[in-house]
Amino acid sequence: MEGDDAISNREKPYAMKVLLTGAQGQVGQEITPLALRQGWQILALERAALDITDPQAVRKTVTAFQPQIVLNCAAYTAVDLAESQPQQAFAVNRDGARHLAATCAEIGCPLLHISTDYVFDGTQSDPYPETAPPGPLGVYGASKWAGEEAIRAAWSNHLIVRVSWVFGFHGKNFVKTILRLAAERETLAVVADQYGGPTPAVAIADMMLNLARQALAPGFGQWGTCHYQGWPVVSWHDFAQAIVATAREQTRLPLRELRPIPTRDYPTPAQRPAHAILDCQRIRDQLGIDPPDWRPILNHLIPRLLP
Ligand SMILES: NC(=O)c1ccc[n+]([C@@H]2O[C@H](COP(=O)([O-])OP(=O)(O)OC[C@H]3O[C@@H](n4cnc5c(N)ncnc54)[C@H](OP(=O)(O)O)[C@@H]3O)[C@@H](O)[C@H]2O)c1
Repeated sequence: MEGDDAISNREKPYAMKVLLTGAQGQVGQEITPLALRQGWQILALERAALDITDPQAVRKTVTAFQPQIVLNCAAYTAVDLAESQPQQAFAVNRDGARHLAATCAEIGCPLLHISTDYVFDGTQSDPYPETAPPGPLGVYGASKWAGEEAIRAAWSNHLIVRVSWVFGFHGKNFVKTILRLAAERETLAVVADQYGGPTPAVAIADMMLNLARQALAPGFGQWGTCHYQGWPVVSWHDFAQAIVATAREQTRLPLRELRPIPTRDYPTPAQRPAHAILDCQRIRDQLGIDPPDWRPILNHLIPRLLP
């Protein structure tokens, strides 16, 4: 039976056989259509199909499919809720990552994993290189750092890509929140002293497939951690202004005032880094991937999100 599967897979014209976790997330939902368009065979698993906190399920599912590469887009991403649910956050972001890495090591399959700028404390004025010491300010960042370390300990053939401020068509994100509030309210206050790089989910998906192709090429030797962050760097308030201005080109909004406020006027359960800017030189120079300008992608996205 196993032999039959191996023969039929060899005969199929698929360029690559990929297993994707977290397939219903913002990034996961962008990866599947892109991979299919490239003719890849993809097993796209949402949480109900594969819960990565279950080591037996991970082992069984991954070994049965025998992917050439695993893309992990599954994560606990509720930054504020994580403060009161640390066990759940660590179960997914640390233990889930470890289970995947252990199984990938067992079958010799590379693992591509996404991490976050929130592993840093954001107090540094210069961009953070990959080698900068971590300093997570909250449970989410700490659990993502622990996941990175678990992967490093379990399997050398990994690529961990730290991204930031993800937005896109699917799932919950800042762009959708601002569009909703701008349609409901006349005034809106947005934090203006936290800076970052908005990063389009569709660009992350494209980057992941590019890395997957490179990782499977003979002699690939660029394993490790890299940074991929959209540019230009902006504050949340700047980003909200760009969202509202773009939406106004398409529709009338009741919003009259978009007020900049300091973080201290918008207390949240989790503290966030004020200036977590990622140095993206490695992905550019060694892997040939340019970080994206988020503005044209936002312009293209907003008409699709408006009613
Ligand atoms: N969102 C951001 O702004 C941001 C910023 C920096 C880095 N990142 C990182 O980027 C990656 C992708 O993020 P995203 O924005 O696409 O996140 P997302 O939209 O929250 O998607 C994460 C997916 O993981 C699934 N998931 C949660 N627990 C799981 C489990 N135990 N087993 C399997 N699947 C599980 C979720 O399913 P349910 O919906 O059923 O929970 C969800 O579909 C993550 O690694 C995240 O940490 C995100």
